[in-house]
Amino acid sequence: MKVTTIGTGYVGLVTGACLAEMGNHVVCLDVNEEKIAVLRAGGIPIHEPGLQEIVRRNAEAGRLEFTTDAAHAVAHGTMLFIAVGTPPDEDGSADLQYVLAAARSVGRLMTDYKVVVDKSTVPVGTADKVRAAIAEELAARGVNIDYAVVSNPEFLKEGAAVEDFMRPDRIIVGTDDERATLLMRALYSPFTRNHDRLVIMDTRSAEFTKYAANAMLATRISFMNELALLAEKIGADIELVRKGIGSDPRIGYHFLYAGAGYGGSCFPKDVKALIRSAHDQGVSLRVLDAVEAANERQKRVLVDKVVARFGENLRGRRFALWGLAFKPNTDDMREAPSRVVIAELLARGATVTVYDPVAMDEARRVLAGMDGITYAASANAALEGADALLVITEWKEFRNPDFDLIRSALKQALIIDGRNIYDPTLLAALGIAYDGVGRAHAS
Ligand SMILES: NC(=O)c1ccc[n+]([C@@H]2O[C@H](COP(=O)([O-])OP(=O)(O)OC[C@H]3O[C@@H](n4cnc5c(N)ncnc54)[C@H](O)[C@@H]3O)[C@@H](O)[C@H]2O)c1
Repeated sequence: MKVTTIGTGYVGLVTGACLAEMGNHVVCLDVNEEKIAVLRAGGIPIHEPGLQEIVRRNAEAGRLEFTTDAAHAVAHGTMLFIAVGTPPDEDGSADLQYVLAAARSVGRLMTDYKVVVDKSTVPVGTADKVRAAIAEELAARGVNIDYAVVSNPEFLKEGAAVEDFMRPDRIIVGTDDERATLLMRALYSPFTRNHDRLVIMDTRSAEFTKYAANAMLATRISFMNELALLAEKIGADIELVRKGIGSDPRIGYHFLYAGAGYGGSCFPKDVKALIRSAHDQGVSLRVLDAVEAANERQKRVLVDKVVARFGENLRGRRFALWGLAFKPNTDDMREAPSRVVIAELLARGATVTVYDPVAMDEARRVLAGMDGITYAASANAALEGADALLVITEWKEFRNPDFDLIRSALKQALIIDGRNIYDPTLLAALGIAYDGVGRAHAS
């Protein structure tokens, strides 16, 4: 099938590459010329396990093209996936300007039947707006061309995006158009061979499903983070509690980790946007208000721990930070808790030496202009002479470090563990002071 992605970021590039891998002919469009130049030269602009090989293989086979030429891209695809950003507007609502600009360009340029697929995370009712934007452009041109608008929200996780796209738990397709349903079924059939994973519904329910999923996951995290605060006070270990409740199949183990708060490009903005949508409808989502507030507080929890030990004035102190990306296996630092921790430590006069296995270039970009940050060449190099080690992202390479080296390199043998990856008893035996999130064993 002929497919176009409009927007070639995390979602557009993964979608395009994975659809090309199944034999479709895909053109990926982006307005960012630099990004397209990198892709055309055989590079990829993001870190995503397995993506580079798929992109290279399919580009070489001529099934995956990259362009900034909207006319070529729109003419190419029967299925046009809109995968542009929907960042938060000032009031927290999703900013639809990129989605609607993409829709208008489709309306301006299309000459035959198209299925326009909203893959971006968009508030309920956006499919109607996309439909109207295309209709307006067609009317302005004085032409009448058939098209369908489908909602197909994306559930991939950064860091496991290729795997998620290739083996989806479910594929949500929101449409009441029979022809579009058939085409979507055909396009996704290679991903659902084992059993049917397509869930067909109306566009509004499909749009809402995406927000409901992210809001539920964010709720679980904030819930555990709040319990962690209490666990510390009452002398319980949230890690043991997590195992104790996760074993209940009604609860399950996923997304029950207390930590330094959630970040990334999705949860924070989607929770905000859902709260805003509800507000516009005169409904208050009290649980989600609390989820967001709890997360804002949680991003400061590691700093509170530093302040509790070293005082408010951190002048002359230096801290080693392991992990900058908002989660492992990505270089994405959008809304990452590390950014809050760094800003708060620097504001109190401290300096930081930071290390991340893949996000160093991204860190230099997003933290540019901030004084007091040293970028270390390795995890161990970040430690030398630091007052303590703060672990912010649970990369695998941090899980079993050389604790003897940590103890001897740090000025004070102290680990503040923002992801509860270490065993407090083991560290106590090794003579390293330990402070996790919601763990009674702080020493
Ligand atoms: N990143 C994720 O993990 C994830 C997961 C599920 C859903 N989503 C949703 O998918 C959407 C895209 O997210 P992303 O992380 O891929 O964003 P991104 O910022 O990585 O990519 C968006 C791309 O769209 C391009 N663009 C903007 N306007 C354009 C236009 N008119 N024509 C062509 N290209 C245009 C931008 O240059 C950019 O490269 C968002 O709504 C997001 O909420 C993201």
